[in-house]
Amino acid sequence: AQVNITHANSRVSAVLPTGESVEILLYGATIVSWKDATGKEKLFLSQKAALDGSKAVRGGIPLVFPVFGKAPDHAATATLPQHGFARTSRWEFLGKSTSEGSGTTDGGDSSVKLDFGLSQSNLDEASKEAWPYAFGLIYSVTLGREGLMTSVVVRNEGESAWEFQVLMHTYFRINDISKVSVSGLETSSYIDKLTTPISTNTSPSSTLSISSKIDRVYTPAGGPSAPVVIAEAGKPKFSITRDNLNEVVVWNPWTDGASMADFAPADGYRNMICVEAGAVKGWQKLEAGETWEGGQIVTDVV
Ligand code: BG6
Repeated sequence: AQVNITHANSRVSAVLPTGESVEILLYGATIVSWKDATGKEKLFLSQKAALDGSKAVRGGIPLVFPVFGKAPDHAATATLPQHGFARTSRWEFLGKSTSEGSGTTDGGDSSVKLDFGLSQSNLDEASKEAWPYAFGLIYSVTLGREGLMTSVVVRNEGESAWEFQVLMHTYFRINDISKVSVSGLETSSYIDKLTTPISTNTSPSSTLSISSKIDRVYTPAGGPSAPVVIAEAGKPKFSITRDNLNEVVVWNPWTDGASMADFAPADGYRNMICVEAGAVKGWQKLEAGETWEGGQIVTDVV
């Protein structure tokens, strides 16, 4: 059996013969749904998320580029909106490739890779003016039976060097935040964005539990290939490994979520945790003609 792809004007979806599925908006190349073979949704998407291209999607996996948050001190990105323009630009769907699983009885497809592209010519005038660099991004979303891989290739198509940050802002769906623990962030350096001034700390050797607002940028001591695991009620749920993405942001707005216009239900913070793989501490410098690649593999453990 083959992968079933639908490509409408504004979104692309793919369903594996075994039932797993993924749905991506061209707006931001935002992944808005990822379901397992039983139809269970793995990502949190706010009930009030705008899906019409009027603002960045609250949920799923928005892609952050070329700046994480705001960077008033970094001249080249200082005037860009929070988290840059990739999540609010319309991408092109470049096509799909499938692979057959060795373990499949009918030789059917066991994974599908969907490629999306964004370059300077796709940007609106305001973004082009604010960030006048020639670039090419290829974002690949690979859906398999065991999980979802997202990777990005960044290319400098200009004549001189520029710098960027990139991050996969994954909103994981969970049942109850009070039962969640995150491992893989122990004894690691982290920046706490909620302290004034922002502080740098070292995490304890115990796993992370969340019982209030959190906004931290971890540099996991184990490096990118050591998994960060989200467990619920003691059972591993998602395992994240990274390539070239040295940081992991953990964010949950807690009850402040209710004050965001596009966050619903008001107690939705109980059902989500953002664990975001990125290269966001300092800057990645790309010389003219150079490319950089990074990605994450999320394994659906349960
Ligand atoms: C996280 C940041 O990645 O994204 C937080 O660390 C931020 O500081 C959050 O609040 C959501 O950002 P936005 O722009 O989607 O509301």
